[in-house]
Amino acid sequence: MHITMIGSGYVGLVSGACFADFGHDVTCVDLNEKKIEALKNGQIPIFEPGLDALVADNAKAGRLTFTTDLAPAVAKADVVFIGVGTPSRRGDGHADLSYVYAAAADIARAVQGFTVVVTKSTVPVGTGDEVERIIRETNPAADVVVVSNPEFLREGAAIDDFKRPDRIVVGLEDERAREVMTEVYRPLYLNQAPLMFTGRRTAELIKYAGNAFLAMKITFINEMADLCERTGADVQDVARGIGLDGRIGSKFLNAGPGYGGSCFPKDTLALVKTGQDYDSPLRLVEATVEVNDRRKRAMGRKVIAAAGGNVRGKTVGILGLTFKPNTDDMRDAPSIAIIQALQDAGATIRAYDPEGIEMSKAVIQNVEYATDAYDVAQGADVLVLVTEWNAFRSLDLERVKAAMNTPVLVDLRNVYRQKEVEAAGFTYHSVGRPVAHEHVDAVAAAE
Ligand code: UDX
Repeated sequence: MHITMIGSGYVGLVSGACFADFGHDVTCVDLNEKKIEALKNGQIPIFEPGLDALVADNAKAGRLTFTTDLAPAVAKADVVFIGVGTPSRRGDGHADLSYVYAAAADIARAVQGFTVVVTKSTVPVGTGDEVERIIRETNPAADVVVVSNPEFLREGAAIDDFKRPDRIVVGLEDERAREVMTEVYRPLYLNQAPLMFTGRRTAELIKYAGNAFLAMKITFINEMADLCERTGADVQDVARGIGLDGRIGSKFLNAGPGYGGSCFPKDTLALVKTGQDYDSPLRLVEATVEVNDRRKRAMGRKVIAAAGGNVRGKTVGILGLTFKPNTDDMRDAPSIAIIQALQDAGATIRAYDPEGIEMSKAVIQNVEYATDAYDVAQGADVLVLVTEWNAFRSLDLERVKAAMNTPVLVDLRNVYRQKEVEAAGFTYHSVGRPVAHEHVDAVAAAE
């Protein structure tokens, strides 16, 4: 099967490489010449564990090629995937679909023979109809069926998510396209991954509903964590206690500094806008967006409280900048708002991240970057664990303490056990776990 992927960003590249690994003949297209040149030389523009080897193996086997020349790649394809970005549109939070629509017109001009055009980018419900309209308008003779096939890849685990999915959702209303899509996913189908066929609009909505539900689940446990702190309960036990109920499930119940990343913030906002447009408001999702936004900055205040109510002239060490481990992605990372709040309160920031320092330089100013966790601790008055990288999970606490000015640890990911940190001589603060009363009072005073 000849597959062409329009857009060689995160989704396009991971999906393209995985399809090639299934044995399909894949061409990845991108407008960015530098990116395509780099990919041809085996350089991967994003950080994703395992992706470099997967690209190298399949390129070597001749199943995966890269080009900026869209027309011939589309002409030979049985299936063309649209995997371009759909960022939040500035000003109103709607998904910006200009790249998707531009790709649709380009495809229409180049397509030859029966071709299935599949939207993989996350797009609001109804976008497939518009893609189809653009194609028909641009080239009325095109023999094309437009399908929706959203992705559910987590950064840092994207290849595994692609190859061992919980489900594959395919939205279409055409029997020929159904046969083609079954063929595309046959290797996974044989692995018994449920291939779910549904209407196109339904598939588009499933993607947003899934992300919004997960964002809501995280936000729920985060608010519970706040209540636990004020009542002396333990949020991790609450999460376990409710998660063992099969109807709730134990995943995505880790309290923390709020969700970030390239999907949840953008997709929840876009879904809220869709709800408003259709006069069908999604109030739970609206509240989720608002609560999560506020939470990130509130974490800055939590750190200030841990420092005794004032950080002016103090040094705060930040462990982890990316929105989660195993990525270099800084998009909507909680670290951005936390650092901003601390800088506004007069703190000096020292920070380290295993992969995110380069990306963070573009979004956070006036930060001293350290070479590792112990270097961050050097002279710090408070140390804040923001991203739960493995490198921060088993620090030599004695060594950290010796480097610090005052041994205060704020663990925003509940990585450590209170007893062990306190035994090492630290004052310890975490999220939603029982704390000493002086701390509760300090938080109240800071707020
Ligand atoms: C997410 C979805 O999981 C994926 O299916 C979709 O296609 C894209 O968006 P991703 O953004 O890569 O993937 O990361 P994910 O692992 O889902 O985490 C998102 C955010 O939620 C991170 O900031 C993470 O720290 C936070 N999170 C997650 C929590 O705070 N607690 C949890 O229990 C889980």
